[in-house]
Amino acid sequence: MISVITGAGSGIGAAAALDLARKGYQLVLVGRDRDRLESTASRVRSATDSDVSVETADFTRFAEVRDLAARLRDNHDHIDVLANNAGVMVPDRRVTADGHELMIQVNHLSPFLLTNILLDRVGRVVTTSSRAAKAGKLEPDDLSRERRRWNGWLQYGDTKQANALMTVGLATRGAKATCFHPGVIKTTFAGGTVFMKLITLPGLHEPVEKAASRLAYLATSEDGERLAGTFFRDNRPDKVPAQMTDPDLAERLWTASAEAVGLDG
Ligand SMILES: NC(=O)c1ccc[n+]([C@@H]2O[C@H](COP(=O)([O-])OP(=O)(O)OC[C@H]3O[C@@H](n4cnc5c(N)ncnc54)[C@H](OP(=O)(O)O)[C@@H]3O)[C@@H](O)[C@H]2O)c1
Repeated sequence: MISVITGAGSGIGAAAALDLARKGYQLVLVGRDRDRLESTASRVRSATDSDVSVETADFTRFAEVRDLAARLRDNHDHIDVLANNAGVMVPDRRVTADGHELMIQVNHLSPFLLTNILLDRVGRVVTTSSRAAKAGKLEPDDLSRERRRWNGWLQYGDTKQANALMTVGLATRGAKATCFHPGVIKTTFAGGTVFMKLITLPGLHEPVEKAASRLAYLATSEDGERLAGTFFRDNRPDKVPAQMTDPDLAERLWTASAEAVGLDG
C-alpha cells in the first residue's frame, strides 16, 4: 500500500506520515523543502519499516505540479491514498507567477491539478480542509478575489470551501474522496497572525497527532470510501452550510478550476 502526502515536511502532514507508516503504508512525501522532507523521512524510517521517498514541488507553480505528477506516474502504477494536505494562509494579497492569488493556487488549484492527473491511478483522495470552509463564500468566477474586498482569512475560507466542493466533484465522478477539519493545531500554519496566536493559546489546541489520526482515519476506514463527498470533523460527517455540498456550485468550480490549470473540463 502506498500513500502520497503533500505538505509532509512539517505539521499535520509529517505526523500523518508516521501514522500511516505505522499502519503499513509506503510513503511518498511531498513538499518544497528537501531537508524538511528528509527529516520527516528519517523519523519515519527510524520508527517503522516503511519504504519512504521524497519529492519536491512548489505548488505556486503549475509546471512543478505537472512535473511532480509525471514523476509519480512514472514511479507508481497505483497510489492507494493521495493526501492533499499542503496548505497556506497569508494575510496579504499575493499573486503567483501563474497569475492566481497565492492561497487559491496552493490550497486548491494545484491539488486539483495533481489529483486530476493522478485520478486513474488513485484509490482514495483525502483532503485537509478546515472549519474555515464554513465561512467561505466561494465564487468560481472570482477565485482570486479580484472583484471582492480583500481579507486573508475570508480568502483562506474560500480556498478551504473549494477543498470541500472539489471533494463533492470528485465523488460525483466516482472517486472515493473525503475531506476533513483537522482540529486547531499549533504548527507553523498562519504563523504570526494574531488570530492563530489566540486560538492556539495553551489549552485551546489539540496535539498534532490527533489531526494526523483524523487524516489516517479517512485514509483507512470504511467511511473514507462509503461516505465519498463528505466533510468530516472528528471522524464523523459534519453539519455544513448548503453551499459546501451544492452540486451545481461544485460543477461551476470544477469548470473554472480546469480552465485555470489548463485541463479539459
Ligand atoms: N494547524 C491548524 O490549526 C489547521 C486548521 C485547519 C486546517 N489546517 C490545514 O492543515 C494543512 C496542514 O497545515 P499544518 O497545520 O500542518 O501547517 P504547516 O506545518 O505550515 O504545514 C503546511 C505544509 O504545506 C506545505 N506548503 C505550503 N506552501 C506550499 C507550497 N507553495 N508548495 C508546496 N507545499 C507548500 C508546507 O511545505 P514545506 O514545509 O515543504 O514548505 C508545509 O509542509 C493545511 O492545508 C492547513 O490549511 C490546519
